[in-house]
Amino acid sequence: MDPLHNPYAPGAGVRPPQLAGRDSDLDAFRVVLERVGRGLPERSLMIAGLRGVGKTVLLLEFQSLAEQHEWSTAKLEGRTGISLRGGLGRAIHLLLRSLNRRHRLEHRFERLLRILKSFVVTASPSGDFSFKLEVDPEPGSADSGDDEIDLTELLVEVGKAAASVQTGVAIFIDELQDLPHADLGAIVGAFHEISQQQLPVLIVGAGLPHLPQELSESKTYAERLFRYRRVDSLSTPAATEALVVPAQRLGVEFTPAAVGAILEASGGYPYFIQAYGKHTWDVADRSPIDLEDVQLGSVEARRELDVGFFGTRLDRATPKEREYLQAMAELGEEPVGTGAVAAHLGKPAGNLSVARDQLLKKGLIYSPDRGLVAFTVPRFGEFILSR
Ligand SMILES: Nc1ncnc2c1ncn2[C@@H]1O[C@H](COP(=O)(O)OP(=O)(O)O)[C@@H](O)[C@H]1O
Ligand SMILES: [Mg+2]
Repeated sequence: MDPLHNPYAPGAGVRPPQLAGRDSDLDAFRVVLERVGRGLPERSLMIAGLRGVGKTVLLLEFQSLAEQHEWSTAKLEGRTGISLRGGLGRAIHLLLRSLNRRHRLEHRFERLLRILKSFVVTASPSGDFSFKLEVDPEPGSADSGDDEIDLTELLVEVGKAAASVQTGVAIFIDELQDLPHADLGAIVGAFHEISQQQLPVLIVGAGLPHLPQELSESKTYAERLFRYRRVDSLSTPAATEALVVPAQRLGVEFTPAAVGAILEASGGYPYFIQAYGKHTWDVADRSPIDLEDVQLGSVEARRELDVGFFGTRLDRATPKEREYLQAMAELGEEPVGTGAVAAHLGKPAGNLSVARDQLLKKGLIYSPDRGLVAFTVPRFGEFILSR
């Protein structure tokens, strides 16, 4: 098929040609927006799952739903070891400007900017943050130096302003697990207060599967404060839809055997479906695309995944860390006990804790439970063993 018209879209955060299997999520989020808009109680949302399952895409989809509801929104990404204030300050600045454009907040806008200035200046007294905020700080608001208190004060003011013009605001944070623990605690604490005051402020977070634990460890009540959505591989009907519908729109069919082979090869993981779909499309020369096309295309798809999806991640590991990953892969079924990894490598567990911690920090593995580790990338073990 003509590569020029290839509809498939493998890539981090790239909107798929067909967003399969998410209708109920989108419906539920619409209800949340409507309810919060009417001042009714609702919980914010946390999306958790492995890499490549479609968390970022879902987050962006929620953001555009909120925008369609005339909400003002902000999006940011957690980065390892980088504290929240600067990035969040900048995101809230954009959000406030949008809120003011839509609703003319008048004197309230100026006051919000001053509180925001207090919030960011407290983090960086020299004022070297990356956006212009030419107002004086508001003394006594969001400037205590305690992240939780300051974030709460800031968000409560933002929420009151939104409520005063009958709208809502939403903050979207991707890779939330990468934020320092203290920042997670501040976020949870602030949203606890937001929910108690029933203010129209939502947070939607996305992160690796251990995100719920991370949040609960920062504050025990996090468990009840948020709604958690675990995203995983797509069901067979959804995976079929993700593959078949984009081609159908262009008048191209797949034989049932070809569909079966791609579903099997991809395990229903969204990223893999896009990769296999793309390369199969490119090698096929007529419709329907058949099993032979899939077999040919798969070779190229696997090569691309090995380099782009798996390889770039493995490259981040040092030789010692790779040894650890190799042992995990050899032990097979995930998750594995850290003790079992040590035994497999014939080393005392203590000797391996540095490698393990680094792998956790780099987001290559996560701990689904005490004493257990698992890969954050689906089929990473298979990839390691195939090298
Ligand atoms: N619901 C879906 N249906 C089909 N493809 C999807 C879906 N969600 C995501 N994808 C595709 O999967 C890939 C990974 O999506 P992304 O949101 O970056 O995953 P994550 O953030 O979980 O790592 C992208 O190529 C995207 O187009
Ligand atoms: Mg993502």
